[in-house]
Order: sequence, then C-alpha cells, then structure tokens
Amino acid sequence: MSLYPVGIIGTGKYVPERILTNQELEQMVETNDEWIVTRTGIRERRLASAEEATSDLALHASKKAIAAAGLTAEDIDLIIVATITPDMFFPSTACLLQDKLGAKKAAAFDLSAACSGFIYGLATASNMIATGMYKHVLVVGAETLSRITDYTDRNTCILFGDGAGAVVLGQVEEGRGFRSFELGADGSGGDLLKVCGGGSRVPASEASLSAKQHFIHMAGNDVFKFAVRIMGSAAEDALQKAGMTKEDINLLVPHQANIRIINSALTRLDLSEEKAMINLHKYGNMSAASIPVALAEAVEEGRVQQGDCLVLVGFGGGLTWGASVLVW
Ligand code: UT7
Repeated sequence: MSLYPVGIIGTGKYVPERILTNQELEQMVETNDEWIVTRTGIRERRLASAEEATSDLALHASKKAIAAAGLTAEDIDLIIVATITPDMFFPSTACLLQDKLGAKKAAAFDLSAACSGFIYGLATASNMIATGMYKHVLVVGAETLSRITDYTDRNTCILFGDGAGAVVLGQVEEGRGFRSFELGADGSGGDLLKVCGGGSRVPASEASLSAKQHFIHMAGNDVFKFAVRIMGSAAEDALQKAGMTKEDINLLVPHQANIRIINSALTRLDLSEEKAMINLHKYGNMSAASIPVALAEAVEEGRVQQGDCLVLVGFGGGLTWGASVLVW
C-alpha cells in the first residue's frame, strides 16, 4: 500500500581526480587502446587517492544530493549505501558516512547486491517512504573498485573505476516518482563474478593473498551473455509493471559496464543512442556507483525534464539485476 508518491528529490556525484587512461594500461598489461575501446567503449576511468576510501567518495556525492534536495543532513531519516568495496567489514560504510555527514537522526546500513545495489537500494528506500516509515532517505552507490582490482589481469583491470553517486528520496507530487521496480537474483551464477578471499569461507591468509583471492575474478564472456539477456528483459518487465511501454521512455540510464551491452539493450527496446545516458568512456564500470553517477550527470547536463519517463536498469555479481521506471 502506498500512502505517498515517492521520487528522487536531489542528486549528486563525485569522482576522484586521478585519471587512468587506456594508454597507461598499455604500459601495465598486454593490451591496447583500440582493443579496449572497440570491446568495451571505455577510454579512461578514475582512481581514488591513497587517502580516499569509499565513505569519502560517498560523502562528497551525498552532500551535493542533500543540498540539491534543499535539505540538511539532520533531515535524513535513513542512509543506505550500496557497495561491494566498504571501508571495512564493519562498522558499515553507511554508519561511517552518517558520522561524516552529521546525519544524527539517521539509521544506516549497507546493502550488497554488486552492480545492481543502487536499484535494490532505491526499491528498499522508496517502500519505506511510501508506507510512511520515513520521510527522507539517502541512497548512495559508492565504490573504490581499484582496491580489489588486479592490475596484472588484463581481463578485468581495463574495466573498473572508482566513484560515488547519491540521491535523496522523498515525497513528490501526484503523477511523479517511482512507478515500478523489478529485482532479481540467480545465485547459481555466483562463481562468474566474485571476490572470494577475506570472508568466512576463505579467511585472509598468506595463501589467499598469494592466490590473489582478494581481487575480482570474472568469467567475462559468461557475464556478458547474461547481461545482454537480462538488461532488455528487466527493463521490459519494469515497464510492464508500470503500465508503460518502450515508446514512453525519454531516457534510459543503464549500468555502465560495456557499450556493446548497452547497445544490445537499446536494440531490444527500439531506442536510439541519444535516448541513453552513456558515460562509461570517462569512468568505466563503477559497479553500484555507475547508475547514480550517470543519473546525476544527466541531471547536471539538463537531459532530464519534469514529467520525463526514466528507466534505470542494471545487472551484476550475485548474479543480480534490477530495473525501475520513474516519472521525473
Ligand atoms: O558489472 C558487471 C561486471 N562485468 C561485466 O559487465 C563484464 C561483461 N563482459 C565483458 O564486458 C566482456 O566479456 C569483456 C570486455 C570483459 C571481454 O570481451 P570479450 O569480447 O568477451 O572478449 P573475450 O573474453 O572473449 O576475449 C577475447 C580475446 C581473448 O584472447 P584469445 O583467447 O581469443 O586469444 C582474450 O585473452 O581477447 C583477449 N583479451 C584481451 N586482449 C587485449 C582479454 N582482455 C584483453 C585486453 N586486451 N584487455
């Protein structure tokens, strides 16, 4: 039961200054700019400085989102941080962020759904507001993937970057806000994309370190096939739940993993490239941060107008996926 229409009332993003280019990667592993651009669309990505952890990136993005919503940190009732690169096991990055923001009245927790984490976070937050439990929820996707990337593995190191995006959710006018969510998981594909070291199954040890189990391991091609299938179908399912069609879409904000994956979703949805927010050439794949950074950038660039129909859609480790339809 929904008491109030809920929508996004503020957005913010932050990416670290340091740029890692394809040309630099050519010096690090056996690869080349042409291969990376044609296979992925990525030209450069950002890297956090040695002093920056995920909560620091999240802090910058969150301050902007809270200000854009016309609120202060004390107005936030709940903080959800979607991340697979928390500052530490615990306390949660959301608690660290709550302290840095001075959001004294907010409850806080992290959410782990890899690259789909931001959409999972939106679904959780919007339902908590729609039922009257909270008024303003800060949802953040923030990652320092460079800390779990093996820069000797050309299959993965060309893909990932660091950054954070944040939104504040609150009550909006009738006719605006979230229309549907479509979330899914297939744990049988968990081995395709994982960091298995350092947890309770494989605790950190000299053996786990030398086996590089604290880095991302990915069966790229299998994840690619899954992504191509799920991006289009999750978006279509979310549209159907919302009672809308692909003709209604003004802007698609997809997870920024690979331009070929985005293009296949565009083909399936009969959309031209201008109808998609694409920034992966600048930032690579930032996991849970990709969609909120792309959304914040679309807002900054004036690509989102009141009344527009947006479809957010992502997929990732778990395996997981998520899509949402909203009216801006
Ligand atoms: O957020 C979710 C996270 N993950 C993803 O979304 C990843 C999805 N997968 C992908 O984006 C693509 O599978 C990749 C970009 C990772 C790889 O592209 P691909 O077209 O699937 O290539 P492939 O893995 O089939 O490899 C083709 C060839 C191989 O050489 P051989 O065996 O044919 O001789 C690779 O060793 O390309 C080689 N290769 C590279 N060559 C130059 C793999 N990585 C590189 C590289 N530079 N960086």
